[in-house]
Amino acid sequence: MIRTEGLTKRYQQVMALTDLNLEVTAGEIFGLLGPNGAGKTTTVKILTTLAKPTAGRAFIQGYDVVAQPLAVKQRIAVCPQEINLDKELTAYENLLIYGKLYRVPDLKKRLWDLLAIGELADRANDLVKNFSGGQQRRLLILRALLSRPQVLFLDEPTVGLDPQIRRQIWEMIQQLHEQGLTILLTTHYIEEAEKLCARVGILNRGRLIALDTPAALVQRVGGYVVESQENGRRHYALARDKKEAYALAHTHHQDVTIRRSNLEDVFIQLTGERLQ
Ligand SMILES: Nc1ncnc2c1ncn2[C@@H]1O[C@H](COP(=O)(O)OP(=O)(O)OP(=O)(O)O)[C@@H](O)[C@H]1O
Ligand SMILES: [Mg+2]
Repeated sequence: MIRTEGLTKRYQQVMALTDLNLEVTAGEIFGLLGPNGAGKTTTVKILTTLAKPTAGRAFIQGYDVVAQPLAVKQRIAVCPQEINLDKELTAYENLLIYGKLYRVPDLKKRLWDLLAIGELADRANDLVKNFSGGQQRRLLILRALLSRPQVLFLDEPTVGLDPQIRRQIWEMIQQLHEQGLTILLTTHYIEEAEKLCARVGILNRGRLIALDTPAALVQRVGGYVVESQENGRRHYALARDKKEAYALAHTHHQDVTIRRSNLEDVFIQLTGERLQ
């Protein structure tokens, strides 16, 4: 469904993306996880024909994003990282204008169906500037869905939202997945990648440093982490299983916490840095 071969993007001196090779299958939710500046948006921009790669190739359903941008655009939709709705217009007007631009057939029905999916039907005639962050984000996703894409790109769909609202957006993404949509999302939230994504690619400084299911990635660092506090610094020790974690915990005199490992631990082990 989505394939990249040696995808590379350089902005003057900055290597935003280096030799990215990945494949996303139809119906999958794939996550690109990485810190600020990792190359997530760059990848999305290339895959959605908004930026040209410096080297390498990328395909959506077999169509080359550089050579066949129209065929690609007919199959995809993108929710950008920044909310670029027209805030002086109503939710309804935002969808209407976009739908007309994309010549969406049976637009009015489609529009109300989408507003219902996003639980925004009762806010249809309110100005977007009066919407909460979560409502704006939902409207942004609905707008992308107008053209009935087969592949949806979500660039940081829950950035800046509080946990409860974030969960609402996750539910919406999950529903779209259940309807068969192929989804590539980017995030720097560990929990988001773990909860939503069948497979996760970890990007750091433009390079893909790991790619697997969240469970397999976490298994790499062992199942457990023993955290302790020493001289004002936090220490992390990795353990294969509970027994090893208990044994490690016993070697400490101060308070320790034993917890399951997560993708943050994977990132730390691979890079020596924190993700969040
Ligand atoms: N138009 C541009 N011109 C110059 N450099 C750019 C441009 N766009 C991105 N970069 C650089 O490329 C690198 C990757 O940026 P990108 O936006 O892809 O990261 P990101 O993973 O999306 O980060 P964030 O989590 O902050 O959104 C960064 O170092 C960034 O400064
Ligand atoms: Mg970004």
